[in-house]
Order: sequence, then C-alpha cells, then structure tokens
Amino acid sequence: MVWGAMATFGLINQKGGVGKTTLALGIAAALARDGAKVLLIDADGQGTASDWGNIRGDNPAPFRIVGMARANMARDAISLAAD
Ligand SMILES: Nc1ncnc2c1ncn2[C@@H]1O[C@H](COP(=O)(O)OP(=O)(O)OP(=O)(O)O)[C@@H](O)[C@H]1O
Ligand SMILES: [Mg+2]
Repeated sequence: MVWGAMATFGLINQKGGVGKTTLALGIAAALARDGAKVLLIDADGQGTASDWGNIRGDNPAPFRIVGMARANMARDAISLAAD
C-alpha cells in the first residue's frame, strides 16, 4: 500500500481500561507492517504506550513512540509529523 497523505486516528471512549491504548498500538503496528511511516504520540500522562515501547528492549517497536503529555503536544506534533 502507498501512503501519501497523513492520516489521524482517534480511539475515544470516556470509560477507562476499555482497550484504547492496546488498539492504538495494534493499529500502529499493522500500519507499519504495511509500509506506513508511523509516529505514535502518547498524550496520556499514564504513559502506557511509552511504557510498552520501553520494555521491548532489544526488540524495538516497528514505529516511533513519543510521550507528549503536555500542552505543547498540539504544536509540536505538527512539526514532528512534517517528516
Ligand atoms: N481485546 C482485549 N482482550 C483482552 N484484554 C485486553 C484487550 N484489549 C486490552 N486488554 C487489556 O485490558 C487492559 C486495559 O487496556 P488498555 O490499557 O489498552 O485500555 P485503555 O482504554 O487505554 O485504558 P486507560 O483508560 O487507562 O488509558 C490491559 O491490561 C490490556 O492488556
Ligand atoms: Mg490508555
């Protein structure tokens, strides 16, 4: 698959612990496997996705994960996504 444009995915539910982070990681992995250049931004102070990336050690995720649980996220995400 050819990826020309930037896509944004929202996995949204008010309830905690329903699998939002797990789904986000799975979708990111599937997109990366299909050849997309994926940047996963963890904007949750819990840092669950960042933790997942960190514990992989010598077997890194096939996509970048950055933790940005601050108000600068909206601005800085755009410059990060420029690549
Ligand atoms: N399809 C699934 N089947 C079984 N367990 C799952 C499934 N999806 C997620 N889980 C488990 O449920 C727990 C909560 O998942 P996850 O952290 O993805 O939820 P969340 O919606 O991101 O939570 P939070 O609101 O705290 O951010 C985790 O232990 C995860 O491993
Ligand atoms: Mg979560």
